[in-house]
Amino acid sequence: MAHSSFQSPISKKLEGKVAIIIGGASGIGAATARLFVQHGAKVIIADIQDDLGKSLVKDIGTEQTIIYAHCNVSIESDVKNVVDATVAKFGKLDIMCSNAGVLGKPITSILEVDHDIIKSVFDVNVVGAFFCAKHAARVMIPYKKGVILFTTSASTVVFGTGVPHTYVSSKSAVLGFSTNVGVELGKYGIRVNCISPYCVSTPLVVNGFGIEKQKVDKWSKKAGNLKGALLDEQDVANAMLYLTSDDSKCVTGHNLILDGGFSTTNVALTEAYKKLFPSND
Ligand SMILES: NC(=O)c1ccc[n+]([C@@H]2O[C@H](COP(=O)([O-])OP(=O)(O)OC[C@H]3O[C@@H](n4cnc5c(N)ncnc54)[C@H](O)[C@@H]3O)[C@@H](O)[C@H]2O)c1
Repeated sequence: MAHSSFQSPISKKLEGKVAIIIGGASGIGAATARLFVQHGAKVIIADIQDDLGKSLVKDIGTEQTIIYAHCNVSIESDVKNVVDATVAKFGKLDIMCSNAGVLGKPITSILEVDHDIIKSVFDVNVVGAFFCAKHAARVMIPYKKGVILFTTSASTVVFGTGVPHTYVSSKSAVLGFSTNVGVELGKYGIRVNCISPYCVSTPLVVNGFGIEKQKVDKWSKKAGNLKGALLDEQDVANAMLYLTSDDSKCVTGHNLILDGGFSTTNVALTEAYKKLFPSND
């Protein structure tokens, strides 16, 4: 059907839904919070960056639509308290976005990895994901519905890209956990999925690798397979909207990779040939 200027506005996909976004004060989580409110959801941003989170909620909406709560995702009582406060204020929880994440020290040699480095990344990325799922499931099971969405990474399917072992293995751990807990929670009508972006120039990447935003964008554009498409926070938020709304009501146990086909390519053979035999190019 042809589009006409008299068409009604696009429907709100999360009208009446209540969503928690853990790690929602910045980057992908912040863009997702804004989009969820635009689509009619009541949103709780939970994070450790309190000033940023508080100013973000003021910018996005009113106390009736969005609030901020302090939550260190690696502390179980913090996650429990946020879930309980959400149910107390809004009456239920429909959507849990387990999105908090850290890159950790940008160390790529296994010889330099020690217990503290592993623990600092796994405490947030993996232990935090367990707490998010546990406390979301606790309040969703009685209603026999709900959505749990983990932000994982394209590093769950492509390796050797200079990303630290600790980060890559933490995201693969969450992917395994997500699939397994999704099997358990299916009988309660709870959908469990992962979203796996390629590189987005958020503070995690910019500060984590110490490279300025413009350079990160240039770098990921150059390495990306799908030319002309630069992945940003809004693209990830759009995909998170799909995975949390009824548009994906039959999707569970899925890892949605947002990488413009990056993980499907392997140019090593071609590049090696060009380097070895430049004259035959
Ligand atoms: N940016 C990318 O290229 C990329 C790619 C794939 C996956 N991811 C994942 O996306 C998610 C969001 O990251 P982002 O890129 O928006 O970076 P970001 O740094 O902008 O956002 C991460 C958020 O998590 C919060 N956080 C960190 N530790 C926390 C803790 N202990 N408790 C609660 N909140 C905590 C931070 O304060 C921040 O607000 C992360 O899980 C990240 O691993 C990012």
